[in-house]
Amino acid sequence: MSSIDWKEGRFQSKGAMRSVKRIGDMAGVFSDATAWQSMDQQMLVYSVEWEQRAEPGLEGGLFWGATIIQPGKVGEEYFMTRGHFHMRRDRGEYYTTVQGIGMLVLRDDRATWTEVMSPGSLHYIPGQTAHRTVNTGESPLIFWACWPSDAGHDYATIEKDFFSIRVVNQDGALGIA
Ligand code: F6R
Ligand code: ZN
Repeated sequence: MSSIDWKEGRFQSKGAMRSVKRIGDMAGVFSDATAWQSMDQQMLVYSVEWEQRAEPGLEGGLFWGATIIQPGKVGEEYFMTRGHFHMRRDRGEYYTTVQGIGMLVLRDDRATWTEVMSPGSLHYIPGQTAHRTVNTGESPLIFWACWPSDAGHDYATIEKDFFSIRVVNQDGALGIA
């Protein structure tokens, strides 16, 4: 058994994996390359802690983890995750928000759409759907996720503006560009 701090998006027990993305790890992700270059490359953008009791790639297992996206912007664009498809395209996922406010951006082969994330919001990400999360607030956006152990992550396909929309702050207002 493990134990978690639900609201803080942290594992209290040992054994969780952790990954951290700083500004310097996110070349090409944000649209304003000049603004990105001028920022402190060590600035934290998001971190993920997750538990994988099953072997990655094993069919039938589940992973469980939390993402914390810091508040901030690169130029006009809010801090966000890189985003991905699952390598096994038919694998779905659940997200549920515990703190903060944000946007889940989804894209399948027909359309791009968004869902507002706020404490208590539950999001089902169907298979065949690329997903990215954006912190549109002024405090950390924290959400838990549960996904299949054989889902895998495909980051290459979503490079080069795959989502087709960007979540921005223009003149103080939240907008989609
Ligand atoms: C797992 C999943 C999340 C993300 C996390 C970071 O399938 O969707 O745990 O991995 O929010 O986002 P990426 O992986 O896009 O950097
Ligand atoms: Zn995923």
